[in-house]
Amino acid sequence: MKLIPRPVEYAIKEGVVGWSSSTQVTGDFPKTIEQAKQLLAQKSAGKASRLHFTKDDERIKDPEGYAIKSNKDVIQVLASTETGAFYALMSLEQLGESGEMECCFVRDDAPKYAYRSFQLDCSRHFWTVEKIKSILRLLAAVKMNTFHWHLSDDQGWRAEIKKYPLLTEKGSIRKKTQIGLVGYSRGNEPYEEKEYGRGLFYTQEQMKEVVAYAADLHIQVVPEIDMPGHMVAAIACYPELSCTGEPAEVSSRWGVMDNICCCGKENIYNFAKDVIDELCEIFPAPYFHIGGDEVPKTRWKTCPACQAKIKELGLKDENALQGYFNNEMAKYLRTKGKRMIGWNEVLDASDIMDTDVIAQWWVYRGSKTRELGWLEKGGNLIMSMWGYVYMDHPYNVRPLSKTYKMTAQALGIKDKKGVLGVECPQWCEYIRTEEKLDFLSFARIITVAEVGWTPDHKMDYKDFEGRLEALRSFFESHGWYIPPQKVYRGKARDLATLTYAGRWNMWRKNSYWEVEWTKKHFGEIIKKK
Ligand code: ACM
Ligand code: ZN
Repeated sequence: MKLIPRPVEYAIKEGVVGWSSSTQVTGDFPKTIEQAKQLLAQKSAGKASRLHFTKDDERIKDPEGYAIKSNKDVIQVLASTETGAFYALMSLEQLGESGEMECCFVRDDAPKYAYRSFQLDCSRHFWTVEKIKSILRLLAAVKMNTFHWHLSDDQGWRAEIKKYPLLTEKGSIRKKTQIGLVGYSRGNEPYEEKEYGRGLFYTQEQMKEVVAYAADLHIQVVPEIDMPGHMVAAIACYPELSCTGEPAEVSSRWGVMDNICCCGKENIYNFAKDVIDELCEIFPAPYFHIGGDEVPKTRWKTCPACQAKIKELGLKDENALQGYFNNEMAKYLRTKGKRMIGWNEVLDASDIMDTDVIAQWWVYRGSKTRELGWLEKGGNLIMSMWGYVYMDHPYNVRPLSKTYKMTAQALGIKDKKGVLGVECPQWCEYIRTEEKLDFLSFARIITVAEVGWTPDHKMDYKDFEGRLEALRSFFESHGWYIPPQKVYRGKARDLATLTYAGRWNMWRKNSYWEVEWTKKHFGEIIKKK
């Protein structure tokens, strides 16, 4: 069956049924019916047929679930919510590419995980609202339901906050941009000596537009403001947020910065709450991401205010101070009906961390014990291990087959109860063009969609690849480029002699090499839409 993600159980039956502008749409779920009509109106006329939606709460228990049964005249859909009905429509869209489709039976399909997400870093490089919408439409096509929007980082602040206008007036701009990794550790890395980011931010109206567009596609948008680390862009605007209060510049260099917010003074607590206030008016999702990753404690160790706070609160150490800050944020978010998500460094103080905080597991901090212990304690996790699902690296370092293995088992999780789901993050330090963004992202999003939906025992990479190839023209007709099979298998260039370390080195020298190689051997990265 030409369908991604693979349904739980299905069968192809004899005969074909029409799927064209001649298809009549009837039944329950008015919103999905309207979307189905719009989708079919774009097709030419064909064989007469009917698409009928029925609400059935008894049979379809999962709110995202659905069933399809068709014969040569009628396609019957069962669902209990508009979301389930919409996912049936998304399945039909893939199955019915050519104006008609094989009759089929999809039994009570439903997702393995409730949280199926893609993250886009819009700080390091900015992506337009139109680009984001095109990606959201792909997320919907493969039944992903969350867009995690990375709106701030050391190198640029991109969300309009009315109370702090400098964040976008000044915090969006860096003087230059690091363009390579060679010499990274020596501090003589290559730069593009050109200002970046002036005016590149999202107004509150634009963020609302994205939220509304996503909601139509049954996608929730989770904003991230990374704190107390990765905050140099904000500190450049409001230096009183840092330990020393010294003037700072928006960072032009990538990496982990020592200049973080001071959690000994009240400034960051007040600032963060103000920012949360404004963003919660825009983003209705029941989650808010506070980042919390890569927070070096160098400055806190010598900061009188941080040390006084540790003493005053009777905290064990600097990690506990971050834990205290996290808990304050979680508590504040709870008053707004939201749960806090943080990268798994939030568990550096797991002994004091509120258990309703969700840890997004992207890196091993020593061993797996702490994260597995968090699950045992009743905590929740989102799986995002960098070696599997990070998308900013070439396929020859991380082929699709590796990304497909991002299962609970791979992380040593025995009981999946606390696993909310899976997310593939796209980091954009070295992604300056839409062409490269497309090249690295779409195929991996499609892969992770199946990882998040299909039961582990039904997952089969070879079968997945077959369906990906069968659906290549469907994806590409929407402008969602899929690299050639040889490339996503990690075989660009003759790599017989290259070790894993050698592949990384190739990327460090020129992070664009795989895109260039593909264009040279397979032609332009298509842009059909
Ligand atoms: C991360 O990659 N720093 C979450
Ligand atoms: Zn401090």
